[in-house]
Amino acid sequence: MDSRIEGFYKLEPRERLSAVADRAGLSAAAVDQLQNTGLDLESASDVSENVIGTLEYPLGIATNFRIDGSDRLIPMAIEETSVVAAASYAARMARETGGFETHVSGPKMIAQIQATGVSAPESAKVKILRESDDLIDLANEQDPVLVEHGGGCEEIEVRVVETPRGAMLVVHLIVDVRDAMGGNAVNTMAEALAPEIERLTRGDVSLRILSNLADRRLARATCTIPPAALESDETSLSGAAVRDRIVDAWAFAAGDPYRAATHNKGIMNGIDAVATATFNDWRAIEAGAHAYAARDGYGPLTSYEVDADENLACTIELPIQVGTVGGATRLHPVAQAAMDILDVESADELAGIFAAVGLAQNLGGLRALVSEGIQAGHMSLHAKNIATQAGAPEHLVDEIAAQLVAEEAVRQDRAEELIDEYT
Ligand code: MEV
Repeated sequence: MDSRIEGFYKLEPRERLSAVADRAGLSAAAVDQLQNTGLDLESASDVSENVIGTLEYPLGIATNFRIDGSDRLIPMAIEETSVVAAASYAARMARETGGFETHVSGPKMIAQIQATGVSAPESAKVKILRESDDLIDLANEQDPVLVEHGGGCEEIEVRVVETPRGAMLVVHLIVDVRDAMGGNAVNTMAEALAPEIERLTRGDVSLRILSNLADRRLARATCTIPPAALESDETSLSGAAVRDRIVDAWAFAAGDPYRAATHNKGIMNGIDAVATATFNDWRAIEAGAHAYAARDGYGPLTSYEVDADENLACTIELPIQVGTVGGATRLHPVAQAAMDILDVESADELAGIFAAVGLAQNLGGLRALVSEGIQAGHMSLHAKNIATQAGAPEHLVDEIAAQLVAEEAVRQDRAEELIDEYT
């Protein structure tokens, strides 16, 4: 499969779908779902409460991705302009040097059990650790299917946490959740262990819930960009200058949380779009990403360096809590088609793709920001929306939008004047 599709953006949506269907070997049923965007009301009611309708997002395909030696087409559901284009652009730059390489630490989630009113927390900690094996067995009895698939609770950690209400004893269950996101599995285990923790601590167990700071489930990706690939026609900056500005942009984020927030938002543009397309829980991923970014004072989730060959070395590391089984992914026929396009075999493989997309998104955004700026790209799409909203007939939208951009007057009133002139 070749993820480089020449002129993909110039095709009509139906032609794009057919190109993707051919390459990804999609079934007729999956193509049908993509054309008819179907989560029916009854199925929607099984996902959430008080349902009265469904809401559609544009589903785009980022092209050019090569990840760990395999080409991938990336489904992205997002309402923001330029995101899919920037990811595809960066993936094309990375492709020249082999694309992205990923590393995933393994699908391990953490569940927390909070015990309050423990009078001797340090000694209670030892009591719990001495019974770790039995506690692990009890946790695993809750999910024999997970254990059968090679997963299950592997470790018990105990922390004494200072809080505004005094010291609390916090037990962590470290659970290999295999290909699930794992929320239900670990929460059930935590609830089952609660009475034992109360017995051992003689305290009061309250919360029993997973932690979204999933730092045992880290996904990493790298890519290398030669300076020549970064040259900017629009600004006449050399590739080396763009490279150095990107490193400075990263340093800015590393030194200033106001910038780091936006830097990371750019990363999450890509990651959330893939999460939405696959019906994964993007709130969990967001929470984990920002908590991880804040572990030593809030900073960027990517880093940029100049390597020994003067290339830009790009890296990302963040928790990615996603699943390929269980959860809601299978409930949405379009999400199912998106998973067919991604064609992954495990949650780890999917997490690696999320990391690569986050890195590409950030690299694409920074490249534009340090050179021509992002408004040029945004404005041409925005101008089309303005022209349409002003009532431009379909055959004139592109022409009027181009004129609005050329005049630097992307406004409804000017669009209306142009429509009068052209019709
Ligand atoms: C826009 O949604 C995202 C960016 O602002 C990210 C960034 O500034 O790095 C372009």
